[in-house]
Amino acid sequence: MHILVIGGAGYIGSHVVKALMKANHKVSVFDNLSSGLESNLFAQNKFIKADILDYAALKNALLEKVDAVVHLAAKKAVGESMQKPEMYALNNISGTINILNAMAGTGVKNLVFSSSAAVYGNPQYVPIDEKHPLNPLSFYGFTKQDIENYMRWYEQLKGLRFVSLRYFNAVGYDEEGIVHGLEKNPQNLLPIMMEAILGKRPKLQIFGHDYDTKDGTCIRDYIHVTDLASAHVKALEFLHQGGDSQILNLGTEKGFSVLEMVQATQKVTGRNVPYEFAARRPGDPAIILASAKKARQILNWEPTHSQLENIISSTWNAYQKSSL
Ligand code: WQD
Repeated sequence: MHILVIGGAGYIGSHVVKALMKANHKVSVFDNLSSGLESNLFAQNKFIKADILDYAALKNALLEKVDAVVHLAAKKAVGESMQKPEMYALNNISGTINILNAMAGTGVKNLVFSSSAAVYGNPQYVPIDEKHPLNPLSFYGFTKQDIENYMRWYEQLKGLRFVSLRYFNAVGYDEEGIVHGLEKNPQNLLPIMMEAILGKRPKLQIFGHDYDTKDGTCIRDYIHVTDLASAHVKALEFLHQGGDSQILNLGTEKGFSVLEMVQATQKVTGRNVPYEFAARRPGDPAIILASAKKARQILNWEPTHSQLENIISSTWNAYQKSSL
């Protein structure tokens, strides 16, 4: 298949591109490089440097005999989305409407979309399955929920078929070291720990240690990007074979606390992670865990790269490479 990967120069997108190439698909990348990196591009692939708000550029890209689209182009900082909802509305929602309209206008029917566990909000139960009520706590999470609703309507009215993949905590780097471009201005636990080890920031602040968990720190479901990437390949193949639209959680169904992550990182890297306990971060639930049963059944997908040691060593390798 010829796949247009929108946001293919980003952290998850570049791993998806690599997995698609490995599965012998033709790939074109569409990215405005606002957070994506030129170093994440592969020379073999056509690269279109453009914004998803540029309808003509999208349409032209789709007219190159594209069979399906993977859409990962989005702003994704939860805190920022609460400060600048206009930016998130425009980029995430209007940008996606442009993509849906361009697909409808060119007859490209199949779409795999990057959604998020942020659509669920504070869990009413764990593990969270896809039937869990949606109550996003951030505008970012709302944009993902809203886009899923648009996709449902475009399915009904325009013949779109989609797989919406709700990622839990995406972590890790390509173990072969081919994709190693570091995210600009990272906001998540693992990159922050790496920066603390390397002296790029004074220390990790652990947000809260009085939660109702085994050690008082929050528990999350950390899934390796290579496992996320393989789910995209399987989702595209599923749609290509005539599968119907799906919304699927992607997680490991296992949880680790922040302190467990710190300890494992110290063990794997052999370095000290300087940290201090700080106040809880508003909107952080104590435990988030996925049920990924549906993805396992429907896509015949299994996370095989998400062992903690693997997650940490691949991230550490990417960070060490960048500090050479
Ligand atoms: C992980 C754990 C923090 C930073 C976010 C989004 C979610 C989804 C995935 C995109 C939490 C703790 C973190 C720090 C800390 N994104 N932490 N000190 O919040 O679980 O999920 O990314 O779709 O929508 O909310 O990820 O990496 O920020 O935090 O103690 O400096 O680490 O409290 O328990 P989070 P995270």
